[in-house]
Amino acid sequence: MVQMGRKGKNMCGIIGYSGRLEARQVLVNGLEQLEYRGYDSAGIAQMTKQSVEVTKAVGNVGALKRKLEKKEDVISRCGIGHTRWATHGGVTEENAHPHQFGKVTLIHNGIIENYKKIREEYGKEQFFHSQTDTEIAAMLIDFFYDGNPEEAIWKTVAQLEGSYAFCILFEDIPNVVYCIRRISPLVAAYAEEGAFVASDITALIAYTQDYFVVPEDTILVLTDEKAELHDREGEIVEPDLLHVKWDLTAAQKNGYPHYMLKEIHEQPEALHQTIAPRIKAGIPDFEEDQIPDSIFESVQQIKIVACGTAMHAGLIGKVLIEKRVRIPAEVEIASEFRYASPIIDQNTLVIVISQSGETIDTLASLRLAKELGAVTLGIVNVKGSTIARESDYVLYTHAGPEIAVASTKAYTVQIATLCLLTMRLALVKKTLGRGEINRDFALLKESMECVKRSLLLDPQIQEMTACLTEAKDLFFIGRGIDYALSCEGSIKLKEISYIHSEAYAAGELKHGTISLITEGVPVIAIATQESVFSKMISNIREVKARGALVILITKESMQVEESVFDYHFTIPEIADDYTPIPAAVILQLIAYHTSVRRGLNVDQPRNLAKSVTVE
Ligand code: M6R
Repeated sequence: MVQMGRKGKNMCGIIGYSGRLEARQVLVNGLEQLEYRGYDSAGIAQMTKQSVEVTKAVGNVGALKRKLEKKEDVISRCGIGHTRWATHGGVTEENAHPHQFGKVTLIHNGIIENYKKIREEYGKEQFFHSQTDTEIAAMLIDFFYDGNPEEAIWKTVAQLEGSYAFCILFEDIPNVVYCIRRISPLVAAYAEEGAFVASDITALIAYTQDYFVVPEDTILVLTDEKAELHDREGEIVEPDLLHVKWDLTAAQKNGYPHYMLKEIHEQPEALHQTIAPRIKAGIPDFEEDQIPDSIFESVQQIKIVACGTAMHAGLIGKVLIEKRVRIPAEVEIASEFRYASPIIDQNTLVIVISQSGETIDTLASLRLAKELGAVTLGIVNVKGSTIARESDYVLYTHAGPEIAVASTKAYTVQIATLCLLTMRLALVKKTLGRGEINRDFALLKESMECVKRSLLLDPQIQEMTACLTEAKDLFFIGRGIDYALSCEGSIKLKEISYIHSEAYAAGELKHGTISLITEGVPVIAIATQESVFSKMISNIREVKARGALVILITKESMQVEESVFDYHFTIPEIADDYTPIPAAVILQLIAYHTSVRRGLNVDQPRNLAKSVTVE
């Protein structure tokens, strides 16, 4: 069984810099871009000629900026910065990073699992200032440091269990940042302005679109002249350079009040970017993705493994694949799959879906699937991410950076990619002919066009959400593919509005849940499927009869009596299997406006972070 990072979860954003610019600005700007990874507290260390100046603040990067205003006389060209998602120890200034021990100042993303044992072993208890697992790393590096920084780092990591990405400053080595990682991500770049390292490329995009992933088991050394990788013997390792197509504007709000709203509105373009390059004569073609048809030929079963929203996209994929390709497709929650005993062999295609490409449970599932001999295919948004690199094959979604914690455009492009994959599989397996696939693709394109229509509903949805602001509980119901979509509608709403919500297969309500439907309880009913439409309407009547406030989503042409709903939103007339993409947009807007009305932090909901890089 594949085991990684066994306890807790820690996301955090980290940045390091050495170069010609004022370090404070680079670090603070970088932290603002990385804030979606954690926002409990933030801190930076600026290396000056005389010392290493640490500033930390509880709260977001704004709070740190206010503190830094009082330190404008600190001038530095090198430093490290951190935004925290607390795991070990509460949200306090002592627990915020950077941590200092002797000559060492350090920031960390990850979890050191044996920190307690090390703390006891070295008998330095009285010197620790925090409850974090991180501080022992600073202690150990300082303990081993005798003028050779890389040696001290290697000796330290040899003692550590768990995951880490460290950026380290040594008081007596001016303007150099040392970095090392295991599991937790780090990318680096050298640009005109100097050398940079960060948890992800969004923090570096203001300076460069070219970067590399820091390989495990190497030390990255940043100076104002280079970003260099060293192996254990101190030999230089050449990095594999990557390039992203998007630039700084893609990672900014561009006039929208929130990233989430901007990303909702970016969906037509994200879908186009993802689909268009893969279509040849109306048929999906993965030649440029280097995915040969031969990998599909022997496939007898499919497992789709992912977490959260990505897993919900998988639920739609399952319906499409089973219907069109006629092979069994199961959707597995990655955190369950990795500890189960899945029945997998070389005839199994395991599709892992992940926006970030770093979600630890999805990654562990991928590794397990490979170990068991499956062919693995990643559907991933972030280029060069671990899941993308480790999958046998990868289909990148081209949604551009997704900053809001609530995933929106990543979800619809994942669905669209699964549609393409289904069509290619059907072609190879000969369950559909070319003509049928041409027609299917035309339907997909139509559904992508309909996203624009859903976006036009924004003002009406905004108005409607006034009736949801005081809700304590809320239910989403649907049948078939609409039920799969309900699961996504529910997670979206609860994660940013903090209203308790659940998704139910509409026919299942009578088996328990309907007892929770009382006067005024909102029910969002998705009824876009012709084949089960009348059944859905009966289910809606059942909740209406018990006082529910019904928000109904159907296709335009579907006839419904007014007594059945309180609010009604429609999508255009499109084929049943392709309704989730435009209908998802309506659900995203409902979640968004409900959160805004409740005065919440839409982009950074409490307790969450964008990228779940440890269990
Ligand atoms: O980066 P991933 O797609 O692997 O992330 C998976 C989930 O953590 C993610 O989809 C999460 O559920 C979203 N915040 C939901 O909006």
